[in-house]
Amino acid sequence: MTISGRIAIFTDDSGWHGKVLTQAFARFGFSCAYVSLTECRLNIDRQAIPVFIPGFEQALPDAVFVRGVPGGSLEEVVFYLDILHALKLLSVPVYNNGHAIERSVDKAMTSFLLQKAGLPTPPTWVLRNRDEAIELAERELKVGHYLLSKPLFGSQGEGIRRIEKMTDLFWLTASNGVYYLQRFVRCRGDGFSDYRVFVINNVAVAIMRRCGKSWLNNVARGATCEAIDLDPKIAELAVKAVKTLKMDYAGVDIIEDRAGQYTVIEVNSIPAWKGLESVVHMDIAALLAEDLVDRLIKTKTSSISKAISVVTC
Ligand SMILES: Nc1ncnc2c1ncn2[C@@H]1O[C@H](COP(=O)(O)OP(=O)(O)O)[C@@H](O)[C@H]1O
Ligand SMILES: [Mg+2]
Repeated sequence: MTISGRIAIFTDDSGWHGKVLTQAFARFGFSCAYVSLTECRLNIDRQAIPVFIPGFEQALPDAVFVRGVPGGSLEEVVFYLDILHALKLLSVPVYNNGHAIERSVDKAMTSFLLQKAGLPTPPTWVLRNRDEAIELAERELKVGHYLLSKPLFGSQGEGIRRIEKMTDLFWLTASNGVYYLQRFVRCRGDGFSDYRVFVINNVAVAIMRRCGKSWLNNVARGATCEAIDLDPKIAELAVKAVKTLKMDYAGVDIIEDRAGQYTVIEVNSIPAWKGLESVVHMDIAALLAEDLVDRLIKTKTSSISKAISVVTC
């Protein structure tokens, strides 16, 4: 296939995901270049392309695939999101776009939006004041609940602590000044497990059960992956969660509680899929590439050519 366009993959660690995406986009005629958001620049001077992306000095990419947004100070993160927003405003498809990433990277906003949409998600409190956080945690412990304390911007299970007893409250600390406290959901069955549902363009394409070594079921924390049949109820819930957060694709974490109710824990806008692919034997990168090319690049090209034909006829 001849190369018909170029895609920038934003990542600081291209790895396996970068490789399979590059191969998948090549099959659709697109070459990929890895770029770190730290190397991009806004040129607001009317002289040049307003967003400088190394390797794309002559023309902006046909699309951007976001595989990683680096951490950093508030200013740094806001700047990375500015780049994503600016690209979208310059009509470059950004997959997932900056707003979707913003909503999901921030666990507080994710929880708020899920709850507002009427979707089942655990009771959660986000606050600044330590005395109030302790008071709240005591109240939950007294009625028999455990609580999780999570960093607002965390991923892969990093920094999550479980508060099980009053003495645990001594070390309760805010993450960068903010407490995110969530009621712990005791999962159904023996041991610990949750579900990861992969959703692309509002369709649940794959699911796996993750069985953790402890209550943290992240693959990065050593959870094992297991293929299961997709229960339409989980699929529907995962799709509703992704629609609520307006994402092109996402990895949705869902727990089944002791009463058999499904609860949404998290919606990831930059999900990994290596663990999932090890059990479901699908080519997720191919599905993502196809979705991005067909739905975002081709539509854009055809609306541009329609506009041109309207102007010329
Ligand atoms: N409220 C909860 N009740 C029970 N387990 C939870 C809860 N929240 C998170 N977990 C467990 O911790 C894991 C990581 O939490 P999550 O909110 O998805 O953060 P991360 O972004 O670090 O993956 C989940 O996959 C799940 O196994
Ligand atoms: Mg998670």
